[in-house]
Amino acid sequence: MHNISSIKLLNIPKVHDERGSLAVIEKEVLPFDIKRIYYLYDVPSDSYRGGHAHREQESVIIALSGSFEVTIDNGECRERIMLNKPTQGLYIPTHIWREIDNFSSGAVCLVLASTEYNEDEYIRDYNTFKINF
Ligand code: TYD
Repeated sequence: MHNISSIKLLNIPKVHDERGSLAVIEKEVLPFDIKRIYYLYDVPSDSYRGGHAHREQESVIIALSGSFEVTIDNGECRERIMLNKPTQGLYIPTHIWREIDNFSSGAVCLVLASTEYNEDEYIRDYNTFKINF
């Protein structure tokens, strides 16, 4: 079972001047190589996303715009984390259940993933997750 403390908030370096801010994700910021990027947008505020764990995929979740809450669960304990800064990335290792809700208007949820999309490595049933991990 993964310790809940293996879930980390990563600081994404930024360059700020009077023209605005620019954040950079380079190799040393992430604990894995990015294989895929996807993002959630136009999300209704009462939407519930996630509701799964991964056998193989590690991810970093970033609130590129707006805010939302991520519930993380290692099968023993749960934590709820508000993401609302584009310079903060929530690193989630394998075998962690995650749920995302409470989306603000205009929220964009960026996900950097360590694997290509493969439905077979998803665990979408909470009881299966609990039994196995
Ligand atoms: P889903 O895993 O339910 O999204 P979330 O975890 O954000 O709630 O995925 C929604 C749909 O999109 C589902 O049919 C699978 C598909 N999908 C892809 O085709 N490729 C991808 O990279 C992802 C993440 C999802």
